[in-house]
Amino acid sequence: MKQGKHNDMIRLLLNERKVKLSKEDRPKIFSKKEANKARHFHMSFDNYKATPLYSLDNLSKVLGVKKIFIKDESNRFDLNAFKVLGGTYAITKLICEKMNKDISEVDFNYIRKHAAEEIGNAPFITATDGNHGRGIAWAANQLGQKAIVYLPMNSAKRRVEAIRETGAEAIVTDVNYDETVLMAIEKAKEIGGYMVQDTAWEGYTNVPTWIMQGYTTMGMEVIDQLALQGYERPTHVFLQAGVGGMAAAMLGLFVNVYKDKCPKAIIVEPNAANCLFASAEIDDGRPHNVEGDLQTIMVGLACGVPSPIAWPIIRDNAEMYVSCDDAVAARGVRIFANPVGDDTKIVSGESGAAGIGVFSLLMGLDDFDEVRKVLGLDENSVVLFFNTEGDTDPVNYGEIIWNGKYRMPSKDQC
Ligand SMILES: Cc1ncc(COP(=O)(O)O)c(C=O)c1O
Repeated sequence: MKQGKHNDMIRLLLNERKVKLSKEDRPKIFSKKEANKARHFHMSFDNYKATPLYSLDNLSKVLGVKKIFIKDESNRFDLNAFKVLGGTYAITKLICEKMNKDISEVDFNYIRKHAAEEIGNAPFITATDGNHGRGIAWAANQLGQKAIVYLPMNSAKRRVEAIRETGAEAIVTDVNYDETVLMAIEKAKEIGGYMVQDTAWEGYTNVPTWIMQGYTTMGMEVIDQLALQGYERPTHVFLQAGVGGMAAAMLGLFVNVYKDKCPKAIIVEPNAANCLFASAEIDDGRPHNVEGDLQTIMVGLACGVPSPIAWPIIRDNAEMYVSCDDAVAARGVRIFANPVGDDTKIVSGESGAAGIGVFSLLMGLDDFDEVRKVLGLDENSVVLFFNTEGDTDPVNYGEIIWNGKYRMPSKDQC
């Protein structure tokens, strides 16, 4: 099975470029040592607390696997998504570079005191679907600095408000995410601000690398939390992707920590913005863009340009690419919100729930018999998910839960 449509809702592509990495080839930027630095830094925040890892035991029985674990980022630092891990780490690395210090020598309070004298009053500038920008705006506020955040057309009111509430300037453009990034770059050049973007391009790799390193705090927490529950490692991990930064950071860390026993990674994207899937489909080993308005309810994943830092890590290590319809993510939102038996209820936004939506169909429909075999998904599987956001657009969340919006066609349900 190389590729299959199988179902109107889901397209699958087995990654035939996966390689067995030698020790030297494991991505050093996500070594355990680097990840420990990020975690150590985040632990210095006043409101640091590891986010919970829940085991959904009743759901795992229903879906036919041994364990379903969900790392719930919906309340990271009292914000609504994991993204702040990246923004805070990158901004601090930027300041440390100016101070000629290693980040392991400072903590967040120290940076708070010294930020202004190092970087003056030049603002941090970024483009965002919502979550990254909120993280940058929060970090800037904590440091007493200014942030200017650009959002693409049709951004949800609540996502814009959440950014403004931190004192940042939020500008909604009339173009898609990728073009909004270009506008932010122009602005940063024009006024001499610090561009803090979560994707990379030629000549701009430090900040996005630091952002991805910041994400590894959640990966390090998961590794410890699984071990505490007696699990040496998950057998499978579902990683949703926009530019691929989060997926590559988790995968890069897992390859370093679990080595030859790295879990099989399934990369999940929306049909409307499946740039990693499209890159794998073109199959020349290089990243490729997808264009269009990128409209999807999985707003955090609505990116058409893969990060060139993330792509090679995903290409070399992922097991499978999945591209899915909005109805699949909405199904995931409802699955998390309606726990089986006494499982924990998870409030998950559309981008956070895409993985469980896909998984529920892979396990439940006869169409996917062969896929389950290829992936080795069975009663011995220990499957890990990341709920990367809460209800960041509460209006759409309500539409999905209360009004059953974005229903699966009945022929594809299970
Ligand atoms: C909630 C959520 N999940 C996942 C992602 C994907 O992250 P990346 O763009 O690094 O692939 C994002 C990105 O904004 C997000 O907001």
